[in-house]
Amino acid sequence: MKYYQIVFSPTGGTEKVAKAVTRSWPQVEMIDLSASATNYKDISLEKNSLVIIAMPSFGGVAPQLALNRLAMIKGNESKCAIAVVYGNRAYEDTLVQMEDYAQKAGLQVIAAISAVAEHSIIHKYATGRPNLEDCKELEKFGKQILEKAVSDDWLKPHIPGNRPYKKAGAGMVPKADSSCTVCGLCALKCPAEAISMDNLKISDKSKCISCMRCVSICPVHARKVSRFITFIASSAIKKACSAEKANELYI
Ligand SMILES: Cc1cc2nc3c(=O)[nH]c(=O)nc-3n(C[C@H](O)[C@H](O)[C@H](O)COP(=O)(O)O)c2cc1C
Ligand code: SF4
Ligand code: SF4
Repeated sequence: MKYYQIVFSPTGGTEKVAKAVTRSWPQVEMIDLSASATNYKDISLEKNSLVIIAMPSFGGVAPQLALNRLAMIKGNESKCAIAVVYGNRAYEDTLVQMEDYAQKAGLQVIAAISAVAEHSIIHKYATGRPNLEDCKELEKFGKQILEKAVSDDWLKPHIPGNRPYKKAGAGMVPKADSSCTVCGLCALKCPAEAISMDNLKISDKSKCISCMRCVSICPVHARKVSRFITFIASSAIKKACSAEKANELYI
């Protein structure tokens, strides 16, 4: 049996969760869904493998770019667990969407996880999560998934969410201020190729998925989203984010 992580993690929270879940799995191969240069059609997983697919929830749904890349991979009927990572508000239809696209990739979903990570736009929500306690719990979930994967007789888990999925809302498009040194790192790392090397200070609104990677990796903190819009968004979700949410396993 081979082990894979298929992860879309623009700012690192989702990757932390995937690593914690797979801590007890032997030799996990990483497939990064944020690399725009990768030809995902060329990726074919070994038969009888165990896979974790992890994505963040953006507005209660999964990033379409990541889902499309996942669907191109040949899963060869391997078993998989899906993990949604969210910033302590809600993840609504993200898991059912991930389930559908995992099936499009030819994978069999045997378990699902929801896990909380620091909100990648409004960092005061779920600050520091996943913390040590979360990681221990996620590792336990990973062990349970491993046990289920080796048993021949397994039932499909009940995964929460609705079809048709929630509609994705309009995102925030970051731009650089005058401190930008035109180093080009953000253009190189943007999962959606929304930043042109010819005009590094702006992002192409038609391509940007508001993932916040450029904001989080800019070495001089020049790339930002509007403070005013962030304030409005923060106030709108304050109530929903107030109670600390628990990680969940559906198995
Ligand atoms: C555009 C966008 C939309 C988001 N929408 C939600 C949401 O609906 N619910 C929520 O709880 N967190 C939301 N978040 C927070 C992320 O799901 C969370 O921070 C996640 O850990 C980000 O993954 P990453 O660190 O791998 O980039 C959103 C973040 C972004 C950038
Ligand atoms: S990473 Fe920052 S400094 Fe470098 S080009 Fe992008 S915005 Fe400018
Ligand atoms: S330009 Fe948009 S899609 Fe590209 S890294 Fe920045 S927020 Fe993400």
